[in-house]
Amino acid sequence: MNEKRNGCFILPVLKTFITSKQNVIPKPATTGRRPPLHLDPPEHTPYRKAIAPLLTPRKVARLKPIIHEICAQLLEPMVSNGGGDICSGFSSRMPVLVFAHWMNLPLDEVERLERWGRQYNIATQTGDAVSTKEASDALYARARGLMEERKIRPLDTKVDAVSALLATRVDGEPLPEELIIGTIRQVLVIGVIAPMVMIGSICVHLGRDRELQDRLRRDPSLIPAAIAEFLRLYTPYRGFARTAVCDITVHGRTIPAGEPIALNYASANRDEDVFEDPGTFRLHRPNISASIAFGRGPHTCPGAGLAELELAVALEELLARTKGFQVDGDIFPTRMPEIGALHVPLKFT
Ligand code: HEM
Repeated sequence: MNEKRNGCFILPVLKTFITSKQNVIPKPATTGRRPPLHLDPPEHTPYRKAIAPLLTPRKVARLKPIIHEICAQLLEPMVSNGGGDICSGFSSRMPVLVFAHWMNLPLDEVERLERWGRQYNIATQTGDAVSTKEASDALYARARGLMEERKIRPLDTKVDAVSALLATRVDGEPLPEELIIGTIRQVLVIGVIAPMVMIGSICVHLGRDRELQDRLRRDPSLIPAAIAEFLRLYTPYRGFARTAVCDITVHGRTIPAGEPIALNYASANRDEDVFEDPGTFRLHRPNISASIAFGRGPHTCPGAGLAELELAVALEELLARTKGFQVDGDIFPTRMPEIGALHVPLKFT
């Protein structure tokens, strides 16, 4: 039987907190509902179920050679120039290009998507509302166009996210088209900003810690463990929001029903009760799985495997193509809800 406390019945956690009211703080000027992130279970689940099988370790591993190729191509001009801004020159572009491949876009589309994705990325981070809207509208239009194309010529649902969304049925009915478009748009944005910011943060750290940089260069097998620790230490999405459906007391503080609260993942990942010496980078922390860089629960990041692969390959390629690098100028930080570096000038040696 449910226990009554604080004026409401204690419900299972999933029903106590919802995401659909507001998913970040402060509330952004959104252009529409974008599943699965903006919905709660069970409504969000069919969208997740359509995408998640395309992001399994086996599916993602197939992209590894392409990611190496993309990283190598993007790094080449920086290497010839002896360095540059790793974010604008490399990390703002790489995740969009990878995403375009994952979405099975034709090659001539990749360049356009990269331009809009990159513009959106930089514009949201610099608070340029006009440029953000322009890029957002373009991304929505592209998502719509892609859906229309797949309606006429569907691809294998085992390899194509849009076709999988179009083929999904709930009680025999297809998913609403506006929400399919919202999903495509959501995945594009959520999947490109964090890797960009994260690569910036990793470069700042390694630019200042030459010993670790050289160690990873000498032994690339350490890179996946280093990425996990970087994700804990520099959690790129500092947090999302949830709203309690009834008054609830957590650690002696009452969260009133209906009031959105920020969940600070970046702070949790530096909780000294969980991680010993939390501000220090440590390879192979025994409890690294307690990191919540990719969230927890029904909204846990389904793209975590792809993100980790992108980050590992990017770092491997950067280390292999340089003898050393250091920060060479001012670093620009990102804004809420991301946390990390937006511009990182590097000098290669
Ligand atoms: C370093 C890179 C990334 C980080 C740190 C990250 C982090 C997160 C976090 C913390 C959430 C949970 C949000 C919440 O609790 O409300 C999330 C959700 C999500 N992520 Fe990622 N993400 C990354 C990359 C990606 C990539 C590459 C993709 C896809 C290709 C992706 C797709 C998604 C989607 C679709 C959701 C929403 C899931 C749902 O609501 O059920 N993410 N991500």
